[in-house]
Amino acid sequence: MNIVVGVTGGIAAYKAVHLVRLLIKAGHDATVIPTEDALRFVGMPTWEAISRNPVTTSVHEDVARVRHVALGQAADLVVVAPATANTIAKMAAGLADDLLGTTLLATTAPVVIAPAMHTEMWRHPATQANIETLRARGVTIVGPGDGELTGGDSGPGRMLEPEAIFDAALAAVRPQDLAGVRIIVSTGGTREPLDPVRFLGNRSSGRQGAALAVSAADRGADVVLVAANVSADVLADAVRAGIRIENVATAADLGAAMRHEAESADVLVMAAAVADYRPAETAERKLTKEAGTLTRIDLVENEDIVAGLAAGRRQEQFVVAFAAETSQNEQEMLDRARRKRERKGVDLLVVNEVGWEQGFEAADNTVQIVSADGVVGAASGTKLRVADAVWDAVVAAR
Ligand code: CTP
Repeated sequence: MNIVVGVTGGIAAYKAVHLVRLLIKAGHDATVIPTEDALRFVGMPTWEAISRNPVTTSVHEDVARVRHVALGQAADLVVVAPATANTIAKMAAGLADDLLGTTLLATTAPVVIAPAMHTEMWRHPATQANIETLRARGVTIVGPGDGELTGGDSGPGRMLEPEAIFDAALAAVRPQDLAGVRIIVSTGGTREPLDPVRFLGNRSSGRQGAALAVSAADRGADVVLVAANVSADVLADAVRAGIRIENVATAADLGAAMRHEAESADVLVMAAAVADYRPAETAERKLTKEAGTLTRIDLVENEDIVAGLAAGRRQEQFVVAFAAETSQNEQEMLDRARRKRERKGVDLLVVNEVGWEQGFEAADNTVQIVSADGVVGAASGTKLRVADAVWDAVVAAR
């Protein structure tokens, strides 16, 4: 995407450097438009180096290419961070006395602003009225947060962290095609205890399910993420508005949580790796070599959670299962996927090839999406990209 980052004159301008970095790292083209005042806080060389694009504040440069409107016309998204009280007032009034002002008037792209100012200025009726005006025009307001301000005082007015602005900015350009849809995603891998210190588990990290939750929330869904033994690190991105996280341990816990949440859900996605069997008995005390109790484990079968959910679903409920396969070749994988989808009675089955090096802890994934009509989608790349492809298929099929 072509993203314009407007930076206005506040101390939080230094944090916008990191925002631009995040945008570039995510593969976007960023053009920074600082105001004259912003350059007192962070200079031109920093913005040029970090954005890898020329930077100017003036409407009189590059006139041949009509730069004062061209940047706004070409933008897919405009982010203003920090947005000072003065800039917010100018935006509300439609003033265009610098390059950022003309760009904001010339653009039809979504606009996201991250206000930063002292609490008194934020609370002032003039600022609040301006914010309302911008909101009514469809501008997304991110923050401000509540916290310590430059003068040592504290209260609302602090610019949100770059990561939060980044998320909100990208969410503003996502289609809201899951708005109001209630979704449950299970993720991670169950652990079936043998004794107080040992369990039968699997290598699932929970990353793909967390990405599914984040992507669905970005598209407007209300998400419950039922997480089986997922690290806080993997869950970090999912700690946000629109997602409620529920932690579970065993297949039985996961089944109970899914059935409970399913009562009020429109879409159920089973991305968790569920143990097919659990130890017939869980020892109260540690099994020991001395007692010779560790040489044999009797197993009993766990219920098939997704098959149960699919069988008991309400008419309008949509069910998606996942399958990780270690097939000889693609044909065999897809044949297994078709049979598995039918056996489980689900609408879509998302299948991926896994192996010792492939699939589990990796950041990337490659999947195909199978419905009753055959392969209806495919994706390869980051788990977030794969998640988007899954939601595309769900939206198309519902
Ligand atoms: N699943 C489930 N409950 C189980 C086992 C699996 O809900 N007890 C779900 C998984 O969450 C996944 C789908 O079923 O969405 C497929 O899981 P997989 O382990 O591939 O299926 P199995 O039925 O175990 O098939 P097989 O062992 O033959 O590969």
